[in-house]
Amino acid sequence: MDPAIEVLSLTVHYGTSPVLWDLSFSIPRGVLAGIIGPNGAGKSTLLKTILGLIPPAVGGFRILGKNFEQVRTQIAYVPQKGAVDWDFPITVYELAEMGAYARLGLFRRLTKDDRALIIDSLNKVGLSDFQNREIRELSGGQQQRAFLARALVQQAELYLLDEPFSGVDHASEETILRIIKEMVGAGKSVIIVHHDLETVKRYFDWVVLLNTRLIGAGAASKVLTSSNLQKAYGQQFTILAEALRLSQETA
Ligand SMILES: Nc1ncnc2c1ncn2[C@@H]1O[C@H](COP(=O)(O)OP(=O)(O)O)[C@@H](O)[C@H]1O
Ligand SMILES: [Mg+2]
Repeated sequence: MDPAIEVLSLTVHYGTSPVLWDLSFSIPRGVLAGIIGPNGAGKSTLLKTILGLIPPAVGGFRILGKNFEQVRTQIAYVPQKGAVDWDFPITVYELAEMGAYARLGLFRRLTKDDRALIIDSLNKVGLSDFQNREIRELSGGQQQRAFLARALVQQAELYLLDEPFSGVDHASEETILRIIKEMVGAGKSVIIVHHDLETVKRYFDWVVLLNTRLIGAGAASKVLTSSNLQKAYGQQFTILAEALRLSQETA
């Protein structure tokens, strides 16, 4: 079967600064994969590139063996918390409903089955009692669970979640993790950006460790060696800082 994601010689710049440098790796289907690296490593940029939001400078990728355009309805995305406009007036129900439109297209009528799926997904994430509340009124953990409900309603094949556990209470973290593991158990592919090293070994089957450059990709137990983690997190001046310094010097 085609991998969930296959990345080949991917280089991404913002202006003249390289943020991702010559990455090649693949993530098989049906695993819970973590994209791991320190702040500024390029993790969010990698997800946004895969979602077609940032064009690569060099190289490219295949998703489920296809081009992005061919599979876009099959991909559900939960953005990083800081990237969302929380003042946007939308209720929990309406947010979950957007998952159905992502699957069906904007101008389709929702059926009884769609509405049942929305209710069921809100139930799963423990937000049935909050469906008429605006998302801006919710706690961080509830907000993440509302986005997860939207992803569940979309019934995608591939789920990309950017730091779903950050700013989230312990109970929400356990709920989110349980639901994600169920999704993987049902054969879905889930890729999570994560920076907390304490939980990384417990959460993920597969790991992509990076800091601008790829440090390792593969089974979690193989990649998460102390030497690799030292390379990713341990340097006082990260490869990125060095790259930025060099690019500033030569600018
Ligand atoms: N829109 C942008 N324009 C310019 N630089 C950016 C932009 N977004 C992120 N960066 C820079 O790219 C680097 C990687 O950012 P990001 O992908 O958000 O890292 P991570 O998610 O691993 O913390 C950082 O140095 C960040 O400051
Ligand atoms: Mg990020």
